[in-house]
Amino acid sequence: MTSISIPTRHLGGLAVSAQGLGCMGMSHGYGASDDAQSIATINRALDLGVTLLDTSDFYGAGHNEELIGRAVAGRRDEVVLATKFGFANRLGEPTAIRGDAAYVRAACDASLRRLGVDHIDLYYQHRVDPQVPIEETVGAMAELVAAGKVRHLGLSEAGAATVRRAHAVHPIAALQSEWSLWTRDLENEIAPVCRELGIGLVPFSPLGRGFLTGRYTSVEGLPESDLRRSQPRFADGNLEQNLAIVEKLDEIAAEKGVSAGQLALAWVQHRGDDVVPIPGTRRQKYLEENLGALALELTAEELTAIDAAAPAGRIAGTRYDEASIAFVEA
Ligand SMILES: NC(=O)c1ccc[n+]([C@@H]2O[C@H](COP(=O)([O-])OP(=O)(O)OC[C@H]3O[C@@H](n4cnc5c(N)ncnc54)[C@H](OP(=O)(O)O)[C@@H]3O)[C@@H](O)[C@H]2O)c1
Repeated sequence: MTSISIPTRHLGGLAVSAQGLGCMGMSHGYGASDDAQSIATINRALDLGVTLLDTSDFYGAGHNEELIGRAVAGRRDEVVLATKFGFANRLGEPTAIRGDAAYVRAACDASLRRLGVDHIDLYYQHRVDPQVPIEETVGAMAELVAAGKVRHLGLSEAGAATVRRAHAVHPIAALQSEWSLWTRDLENEIAPVCRELGIGLVPFSPLGRGFLTGRYTSVEGLPESDLRRSQPRFADGNLEQNLAIVEKLDEIAAEKGVSAGQLALAWVQHRGDDVVPIPGTRRQKYLEENLGALALELTAEELTAIDAAAPAGRIAGTRYDEASIAFVEA
């Protein structure tokens, strides 16, 4: 790729590259992966100036953290390591969210061990535990900061009221929630509260789990274990309807000489200077293509045209199935 300079953005008080790398798919959700390929992709990202790596203790039941630990060994100072706790179940078991103080402490120690580091730069609660007051959870996270095990705190898929209560206990640097052309739930209430409080926004699945790139025209080619098979937007009938979004994006992208995925990412990046998307990929080729989106300037007319490609109310299917959406705060 022609070299691009990656700007810096801030999540609260934490400086990061304007685009991060989502590492989930290297261990979880999207079929079999090759560790050597994933490690090479992570190192290529660091070489190109990406600093923010996103993982969770849940991805591959710890495999993803261990993989990242191996990839960044010797390069710790170049990386902003973000991980998460909260899913106490293994994949395939009924979802069990835990946010009690004892669990937070134990989860952090286990993540530090798997990552092979002495501190985590950004520690997120992956999902809010409805049984535990957020003050207890964030209180325990704040103790981890005081102990030097964690530098900054984050939440994921938390609602506006929870964000406020959490921030009153300890500054929250970032909210990581799904945000893309076809998932805009946080725009009305949650993003404005984050902005009022100086909390950065980290959109996950900014490529619509790859759908907005145009790569998936049916679920037939996806492995049996692929999480997208259970996601309503990829279901038969819905997927075909949603392809209309990609067709429109393709038209606009072709006029600009870019790809649909780059356009979708650039749209997210244009949401504000406090927005740091973390597209996920296992491949250097896609990593480089995605970073190319940072150089795209979109005019007001182009942004309007992109908005119109995915009109609210015309997206077929919810973003998660019923069981998973229950753990997302509105
Ligand atoms: N907080 C949460 O609850 C939560 C939930 C989901 C995800 N996340 C985080 O957000 C990150 C990103 O989300 P995501 O991985 O679900 O979705 P995504 O970034 O929207 O899409 C990832 C998918 O798109 C494919 N892809 C990436 N770039 C591409 C390109 N240029 N052309 C064609 N295909 C491309 C990837 O393929 P390959 O992998 O085959 O390269 C993968 O299948 C995750 O890695 C994870 O760290 C957080």
